[in-house]
Amino acid sequence: MNHGPLLFLSALFSLSLSWFGFVFIPTWQLGGDQPEESVETGQTYPSPRPGLAQQGAEVYRANGCYYCHSQQVTQEPSDFDLTLTATGPNLAALGRVLSEEVRPDLAQAAAVNALGRLPMEIKGLDREFTEYLTNKLMEAGATLKVATVVAAPAAAKPGEVPAHPGDSFTVILTSAGKTPADVAKLLLRIRPSLGGGLTVPVVLARGLSKDDLDKLNKKLTTAGAKTLVKMNLRGVDMDRGWGRRRSVALDYLYDPVVMVGAQRMGPDLSNIGDRQHSRVWHLSHLFDPRIITSEESNAGVDSLMPAYPYLFTKRPRSTPGTPGYQQAIRLVGEQFEIVPKPEAEALVAYLQSLRSGPGLVEAPTPKAPAPAAPPVATAPTAATATSVPAVTPAKPAAVVTPAPEAPKPAPPAK
Ligand code: HEC
Repeated sequence: MNHGPLLFLSALFSLSLSWFGFVFIPTWQLGGDQPEESVETGQTYPSPRPGLAQQGAEVYRANGCYYCHSQQVTQEPSDFDLTLTATGPNLAALGRVLSEEVRPDLAQAAAVNALGRLPMEIKGLDREFTEYLTNKLMEAGATLKVATVVAAPAAAKPGEVPAHPGDSFTVILTSAGKTPADVAKLLLRIRPSLGGGLTVPVVLARGLSKDDLDKLNKKLTTAGAKTLVKMNLRGVDMDRGWGRRRSVALDYLYDPVVMVGAQRMGPDLSNIGDRQHSRVWHLSHLFDPRIITSEESNAGVDSLMPAYPYLFTKRPRSTPGTPGYQQAIRLVGEQFEIVPKPEAEALVAYLQSLRSGPGLVEAPTPKAPAPAAPPVATAPTAATATSVPAVTPAKPAAVVTPAPEAPKPAPPAK
């Protein structure tokens, strides 16, 4: 029998299945992504990178920076804060939920608070319970002065405990004594509504997981209370300052090649443009990372990052008027200067263009937008601000400071 057609068809079937899985479905899901309006700023995001930065992306790729640097901010499951905003009509139910499950301390504090408004009447008790309660309250230190007996309809003479069952008693608490907390604890058991009388709004819990939040919230709302939930966006990357929100597909919309990276020998660079604006800093760091991150400045560990001296021309210090004088970087204490090649400038433009995007529907930001970048990062001022730069060698803070008395730059040579 000839199995040829069958083999052909099954091969075709498996191949088209993988094509569907690996090509068609991702394209269908993400291929139609369009710039989107940010929920935070109301502006369209993202916009294409400037041309120089686009060229810099190629330099970044060619030099294998993505081997050591990721460009993807991750975000662990968030946690939640739960605030009680209104106690609602059913204080007893709320007090029960609070004292039994959510915040016994708050319920007790509310009850202690209520003890400030004595005397308090506890009505409708039967004989046995009245005895039990008065004993307990007195044990807890309450100067429970009177346990007035109110005769049930047509019962005994005043001042006498009626003998027959069905009578009702009222305990009047006049003073909570020295340990109101103990008295409050006792009272909470018979009068849960005391525990519900909180002053709102009050934060009931912080850092809850989604499951715990849902459980508590359900109990509270069932008890008639109103709550407010605040989501805290959390994640190790964000705590390190590597981004204001997690990365989403839209962040890479205009990147012909996406370089998310797979290893983190160095820090994530998703928002390096927010963290480090200075062109001089970047260029010095690229020329020799140990100028910035050295044993002295980095707790005894030299930077692991390779140097990229071939992106620069090293030459003796020039005088104003020499071509390239304005672009050159003169490192403090060195007799030479380095002139960045166009690749280096492009690479730095790319690094400066890496910024944390604004909040989106699928990835909101927890905080208000950061204040505008210092003027150094903008193109026109950058030319003058960094024209005669000098870089201090590794200092503890690893920052680059321009020479304080920089001579005025000469007019550019023709
Ligand atoms: C062998 C791994 C490695 C490679 C390759 C590498 N880096 Fe780094 N990079 C590091 C390490 C480690 C650090 C942290 C120490 C430091 O600041 O120098 C770092 C730091 C940085 C920083 C500063 C980040 C910050 O948060 O301060 C920038 C910017 C940077 N690298 C850019 C680049 C660029 C651009 C390239 C490619 C031209 C590159 N790196 C290639 C390992 C690497």
